[in-house]
Amino acid sequence: MGKLIVFNHKMSLLYDDLYSYIERVNNIDTDNDIIICPSNIYLEAFVNNSLYPIGAQNLHFALDNKHTGEVSTDQLKSLGVLYSLIGHYDRVREFNENVNIVNEKLIAALDANIVPILCFGEDVTDDYRNVIPSLLDGYLKGVMNIEFIIFAYEPVYAVGTGILPNTDKISEVTKFIRKYLMDKYGKRATLIYGGSVDSSNIQEIISSCDVDGALIGDISSNSTEVIRIIDSLK
Ligand code: PGA
Repeated sequence: MGKLIVFNHKMSLLYDDLYSYIERVNNIDTDNDIIICPSNIYLEAFVNNSLYPIGAQNLHFALDNKHTGEVSTDQLKSLGVLYSLIGHYDRVREFNENVNIVNEKLIAALDANIVPILCFGEDVTDDYRNVIPSLLDGYLKGVMNIEFIIFAYEPVYAVGTGILPNTDKISEVTKFIRKYLMDKYGKRATLIYGGSVDSSNIQEIISSCDVDGALIGDISSNSTEVIRIIDSLK
């Protein structure tokens, strides 16, 4: 069965490289489900030219259109953006997105039929058995339909650092998350892993960690690395 591979470009990709990236990635032959989350300034170009569904990296939960520099769910929907990262660690760390804000964004996305890719994970000194349930309880407050959410487990020390936990550790935590969500919601969650994934490790992570796919950061804005990543899954 195909895996779900999410590309989060962050601030990468310059305009000069935009259309060659879209074309090279369009030409990949794969059974996997790819979602591309480019920078907001390229959303329209991707929606109109990419063969893959497109996600935003962030959204605003408000409906009143009065938030300079932000993008609303209505705007994303009007463009045909189908997914959005929610609660990414870059935003938690740099913009102090707390549990309530992430919860509001998650609900706004669900209300707009935008599939949230909900990022969460523990830091290196945390006990995941405490931190993950508490994060998930806060993020999912008032939400019952978890089948519309893609859960992205990202231990925060692995995001953008090149520090990959070993697969036994990833596996231990993903089992815990699956059981936690199954016990609470009675549904099998879609769960992917993110944090320092690249073409050298994606195959091992996906085959040994009971995940449905992977989330890959700014190296995914390099089409040559994207081709290697997808080739390594064959
Ligand atoms: P990384 O980022 O692949 O650079 O660690 C992961 C992410 O964007 O969530």
